[in-house]
Amino acid sequence: MRLRDVEPGDSPAYVRMRCDPAMMAHLGGPYSEERAESQVGRDLALVASGAGMVKMIVVDSPVPETVAGTVALWRHEIDGAAAAEIGWMVLPGHQGQGLARWAVSGVLDEARRDSRWSVVHAFPGVDNAPSNRLCRRLGFTLAGEREMSFRDQLFRINHWVLDLRG
Ligand SMILES: CC(C)(COP(=O)(O)OP(=O)(O)OC[C@H]1O[C@@H](n2cnc3c(N)ncnc32)[C@H](O)[C@@H]1OP(=O)(O)O)[C@@H](O)C(=O)NCCC(=O)NCCS
Repeated sequence: MRLRDVEPGDSPAYVRMRCDPAMMAHLGGPYSEERAESQVGRDLALVASGAGMVKMIVVDSPVPETVAGTVALWRHEIDGAAAAEIGWMVLPGHQGQGLARWAVSGVLDEARRDSRWSVVHAFPGVDNAPSNRLCRRLGFTLAGEREMSFRDQLFRINHWVLDLRG
């Protein structure tokens, strides 16, 4: 398996991930196909601007270039200060095999080699067991539980923080 940058042809994988109610249960519900497809363009622009990384998880399969998930790291303001957030998704058929752990760890390692990244935040829902477990396993510190507004909904989330310089 390998990580590669998002490409214009990733629309079908975006639709599989972002239009699936189970995949989006902790993320405000499924996107429309149109919204999922347009997300590819926004992510390509993000990567091109240098303000983020969007990696696709490509697994060995009889079907070449099978995308099993994605990891994104992007800069934005958190609590009024410049910061970076990381998020992840692995498609149901590939879950429970350590893929998220491998892929998120790979993205964090790449960010560690790039001095433009320092403190990384993650905000999984309090009941998103695998994501909270992943944060703990990868060395994030739990900063607390809070409510967060996302896609016009309020979520009860855990706030995890990792300082890549530490
Ligand atoms: C969260 C998600 C990416 C996990 O992907 P995955 O490839 O199955 O995760 P991994 O196999 O790497 O497992 C990560 C950890 O969670 C644990 N885990 C997996 N499923 C679990 C479950 N149902 N309950 C508790 N822990 C679980 C694993 O044992 C592993 O911990 P370990 O390393 O200590 O053994 C995947 O479930 C997903 O895409 N969910 C929908 C999207 C989402 O919620 N994204 C996160 C938004 S913050």
